[in-house]
Amino acid sequence: MDAKMQGMLLNFVLASFVLLSCIRGGTAGITSSFIRSEFPAVDIPLDHEAFSVPKGYNAPQQVHITQGDYEGKAVIISWVTPDEPGSSTVHYGTAENKFRASAKGTVSNYTFYLYKSGYIHHCLVEGLEHSTKYYYKIGSGDSSREFWFETPPPVGPDTPYKFGIIGDLGQTFNSLQTLDHYIESGAKAVLYLGDLSYADRYTKNDIGLRWDTWGRFVEKSTAYQPWMWSVGNHEIEYLPHLGEVDPFKNYLHRYTTPHLASKSSTPLWYAIRRASAHIIVLNSYSPYVKYTPQYIWLKEELTKVDREKTPWLIVLMHVPLYNSNSAHFMEGESMRSVFESWFIDYKVDVIFAGHVHAYERSYRVSNIDYNITSGSRYPKPDKSAPLYITVGDGGNQEGLASKFLDPQPEYSAFRESSYGHSTLEIKNRTHAIYHWNRNDEGKKVPVEAFVLHNQYWGSNRRRRKLKHFLLTVAEEVADF
Ligand SMILES: [Fe+2]
Repeated sequence: MDAKMQGMLLNFVLASFVLLSCIRGGTAGITSSFIRSEFPAVDIPLDHEAFSVPKGYNAPQQVHITQGDYEGKAVIISWVTPDEPGSSTVHYGTAENKFRASAKGTVSNYTFYLYKSGYIHHCLVEGLEHSTKYYYKIGSGDSSREFWFETPPPVGPDTPYKFGIIGDLGQTFNSLQTLDHYIESGAKAVLYLGDLSYADRYTKNDIGLRWDTWGRFVEKSTAYQPWMWSVGNHEIEYLPHLGEVDPFKNYLHRYTTPHLASKSSTPLWYAIRRASAHIIVLNSYSPYVKYTPQYIWLKEELTKVDREKTPWLIVLMHVPLYNSNSAHFMEGESMRSVFESWFIDYKVDVIFAGHVHAYERSYRVSNIDYNITSGSRYPKPDKSAPLYITVGDGGNQEGLASKFLDPQPEYSAFRESSYGHSTLEIKNRTHAIYHWNRNDEGKKVPVEAFVLHNQYWGSNRRRRKLKHFLLTVAEEVADF
């Protein structure tokens, strides 16, 4: 065998291994040998340039955008003016320095304990063209600031699109690495998995202050790309000793979602369609059992998923349903028992979660047969099940979760306690390329990389092949 043939054979074996490792169930998973310090990381100090305040009186800061409708033809632009309300108008256009159109938003502020927020603006910019770069300007006079964003292509079954996936980011130097690595990735939008600023780890007025620093910290990405938000436990901020008992108060004033477009009654859960993906965002910390608003909404939203238009069905939530880390072990069990059968019936491709400060990927497994009194009590391989991927490794000040259950449960395919982020690059209706990238001594190192096969079109393709085969056999029999 010559060297070329040997090389081809090696490639084939490696490709088979990668493929098998993502589609087989019940085989022993891998626990990465990377051992990292669990010691909590330190937040970036307040005077660091990552939190720098833009120059000029009342200059807009903490600029962030998110998708503003169901289909990707609108954005919501949000920012804070520190000194006075100022203008809530966004000037925008398709040429640099020429802002031919404008949209007017809203402004409000709030208090949290004795902290008084800046003036928070939200402005819906709608009726945009697809696949277009828009420039926008906010603020007034010498203090105005300019940014840009790109709208996604029209919703369609074979539209390529690259998403980034980040969770539990916080505001440490590890968070900074994750953000910088993500920005290098070439992805177009972020699917965020909850736990944003970790401001609730501070006391009294420093809580509000650390929401402000986080907004300035992520602006270098969030002003230019939509981040699709979901909430985690650190957004709840139920702090009766401070007289603050409205859950998600800081978050809801500052971050917004297009929940009305998907007929949701709250920004805390919603859905969007972007390129070839239908993305459903759930909240682990609002009621979800039968008869609750989130349950009723999800049941209805799943019926709207059209895999002919959006082949990729992605669900985001904060608490993982399958987790083999001792941190937060079993916390997703109640939601799993309510929603898992729907995720299988609707052939969800992948469910991303955060919460656990580590990385983990499951095999395709389900545990829907177990009903307390009968059936197997263990998850079993199930080709109809989603992949469950935990990306709670953004780098916040609580540090890493490095105590995995031993032995590794059969549902767990790969796990590693490192900081990082993921990307999902959709190629067409059948294939997407998935990466998990570790922050390795300051470098971005792709660790997991595999081809994700679409759950709906993969099986349809198989059915079509089978139909073709049967027809061919029938013709041959007839000819005979
Ligand atoms: Fe969390």
